[in-house]
Amino acid sequence: MPQSTSTLATRLTLVATLGGLLFGYDTAVISGAVGAIDANFIAPLNLSEIARNSLSGWTVSSALPGCVVGAAIAGWIGHRIGRTRGMMVAALLFVISAIGSAIPELGFGPIGSMGPAALKPFIFYRFLCGVAIGIASMLSPLYIAEIAPSHARGQLVSYNQMAIVSGILLVYFVNFAIASQGNEAWVLTTGWRFMLGSEVVPALLFFVLLLFVPDTPRWLVMKGRDDEARNVLTRLVSAEEAKVSFRQIEESLVVREEPLFAFGAGVIIVGILLSAFQQFVGINAVLYYAPVMFKNMGAGENSALLQTVLVGAVNVIATLIAIRTVDHWGRKPLLILGGIIMAVAMISLGALFAAGSTGLLALIAILVYIAGFALSWGPVVWVLLAEIFPNSIKDRAMAIAVAVQWITNLFVSWSFKVVDGSSPLNAVFHHGFAYLIYGGMGILATVFVWRMVPETKNRRLEEIQELWRPSRSSVSVS
Ligand code: BGC
Repeated sequence: MPQSTSTLATRLTLVATLGGLLFGYDTAVISGAVGAIDANFIAPLNLSEIARNSLSGWTVSSALPGCVVGAAIAGWIGHRIGRTRGMMVAALLFVISAIGSAIPELGFGPIGSMGPAALKPFIFYRFLCGVAIGIASMLSPLYIAEIAPSHARGQLVSYNQMAIVSGILLVYFVNFAIASQGNEAWVLTTGWRFMLGSEVVPALLFFVLLLFVPDTPRWLVMKGRDDEARNVLTRLVSAEEAKVSFRQIEESLVVREEPLFAFGAGVIIVGILLSAFQQFVGINAVLYYAPVMFKNMGAGENSALLQTVLVGAVNVIATLIAIRTVDHWGRKPLLILGGIIMAVAMISLGALFAAGSTGLLALIAILVYIAGFALSWGPVVWVLLAEIFPNSIKDRAMAIAVAVQWITNLFVSWSFKVVDGSSPLNAVFHHGFAYLIYGGMGILATVFVWRMVPETKNRRLEEIQELWRPSRSSVSVS
């Protein structure tokens, strides 16, 4: 008999997914401001071409190091002050950084006439915004996993991925709408500020809604607030289930904090590899550079709009497939299916580039690849990261895994440029080499899941942690 998910669990999930929306919004908003950053802050410095490109590249990606820091401290914040208040900290940082990056001159000098002197505060605010993204990227899925009933946990956590891709799509249209309010010169002097500042709206909404959201039963028990935990549980699931859940949470937290390796190194390694492979399969290289690829393929004038609509539609539809299937088929089948699809698509893309064919077939390979990621490694990695770690080490272990994800994200974005710019490689592979590597990573990722990742569908979080008890010599890979 299908079980229903309480409306409260769904409502709380929707609030937490605003963290995912801001994650997507904020990582993509900068694309609309690249021209303005160059024109206002970098061009007046009269640097050499290499120095100019490098400074521009670092400025545009200055949020990423912040994401690493945010993810790394999110475990500590979520442990100390709670998941809900931790997300509130992220929301506040989103607000401050949005205002600061829109008006970096604030407190330093007259708006619009500081020139390159405003670059340092700008980079600082983008870094701060990265810290907010890092915190939200960990606490939103963690919160959802901890309030979701086991039969719907995969689905509810996958809503967060839907929010991430919706955020990426939404900001494109917001940037587009702002840019059409004036001419190019207006965008360079003023429009970009509205783009970066627009994020204040979802960030404030996130903060205000969080005021009405209870913390998770697991965190409340960890802090000895048992009555509140029972209360939240009975509002989330049936009275019977609440009793069982409460007992299991208590048992899992008899020792409230254990050493990181109390359950062996296996669970930590699996978490880290899930994160690393999610990035090594190349998703962000493909997303960041898709516009260039579309242009090279001759998509013409409307290439930016075309690629955004196509990529966005494929992303949303394929994520819906994951939402519908993750709790029925399970996590492993989706990851294996997606891994195979991505590997085939990337190897085909690499081979097509190497053969000098960058037309329709290459475009299809990219879209198939994005669909493969969106129905599997996009959402499911977040589901697993939020559920595989035992309660007593969860905050620290998940923070480490998510921080590794941001580090590998940074590495892939940087190394793509290096590989793609290498003349000896391009002489042979015609810009296809990086995709062959990502295809190879897709194969490794698939084998890794098949051999090392346990299935977690339909299990209570406290049952999942039993899979890792050191007494078990090897991980169950049912
Ligand atoms: C990944 C991001 C990626 C996003 C977009 C997320 O699950 O963690 O790195 O940019 O999906 O698809």
